[in-house]
Amino acid sequence: MIAQKHPMNNISVNVAAKVGTSLHRYSHSPLCIVKRNIESFCNQVALERGETPFTIVDDLSPIVTTKQCFDDLRVPPDHVSRSSSDTYYLSDTLLLRAHTSAHQCSLMASGETSFLCSGDVYRRDEVDASHYPVFHQMEGVRLYPDSAFPPDMPVDERKAVIAADLKDILSRLAVHLFGDVEVRWANDYFPFTEPSYELEVKFNDTWLEVLGCGVIHDDVIHNAGLPAGQLGYAFGLGLERLAMVLFGIPDIRLFWSQDPRYLDQFQEGNITKFVPYSKYPMCYKDVSFWLPEDYHVNDLHEVVRAQAGDLVEKVEMFDEFTHPKTGRSSQAWRITYRHMDRSLTNEEVDLIQVNIREELTTQLKVELR
Ligand code: PHE
Repeated sequence: MIAQKHPMNNISVNVAAKVGTSLHRYSHSPLCIVKRNIESFCNQVALERGETPFTIVDDLSPIVTTKQCFDDLRVPPDHVSRSSSDTYYLSDTLLLRAHTSAHQCSLMASGETSFLCSGDVYRRDEVDASHYPVFHQMEGVRLYPDSAFPPDMPVDERKAVIAADLKDILSRLAVHLFGDVEVRWANDYFPFTEPSYELEVKFNDTWLEVLGCGVIHDDVIHNAGLPAGQLGYAFGLGLERLAMVLFGIPDIRLFWSQDPRYLDQFQEGNITKFVPYSKYPMCYKDVSFWLPEDYHVNDLHEVVRAQAGDLVEKVEMFDEFTHPKTGRSSQAWRITYRHMDRSLTNEEVDLIQVNIREELTTQLKVELR
């Protein structure tokens, strides 16, 4: 299904191989530990507030339709997130979800009124210690019954009540996770919530974006087939982002490690600091080329990932110039290789580099220098 030969299919073999792994359901994975911690916190708050508990949903297929991922959520037709340089398509209408918001409408349509929905999400992106084409998100949604408001309260005031509740609950979540940290709210924009906010926490002197949220947009309520006037909130958070900070995990590839020196460090239910084991040596190779007319850097990162898989640690540009006479542009990139669990041999890195050079020429139509 995932490897099907549709002309729009841009899913590389190593990304396809991750589909179905569902790290967020391995009870020893830091991702699962954080997920369950948030789930129990949210349900504790629901209980205190006398609200219905959140239904836990974490087994939905990551293959969704463009309608679920974008249309239902009011993502404009020409938005970059829809482009094949950002998103993994199986066909023109099927894709690997780019966020768990893709399930908002279908879950609401099926009658769920409060849920926490987690899963693996997929984005074509750059290669570095905090970006990986597969990561995990949790989506939280709560619809409010009419009886939650005084009968004559206008819609705008009702939405303000919901936004205040949402901020209160999520600020408490941040303190629950991070301890006594400073938190701040900023206005944000998402097409599926109005108003929308972003929560940041100050951790080790830097402001860290933790989540996006807002009051569910009226059109999204309509797209879910619910009656006009139904109100509620939604939020979405990245599990890797939180787990990296809370457990002190330095590289996002570690979540996928099968090395017992990684796996054996974590116990169900406990947030503990990761103890790094010796890093294996890295090596790097450079490649430079003249750009073709139609070029997107994500495609370059993707070619490298497809050939090097998890052996690539970082891909960074170190030179770029435009020839004054011909107007042609050139870029030079450094690819850093390192295996998480063992030493690499020169031969295997050379072979990968040769393959990358070849794919850059055939797929991206660059001219190697
Ligand atoms: N889906 C958004 C993202 O991936 C997060 C979000 C979820 C924002 C729900 C608002 C409400 O960035």
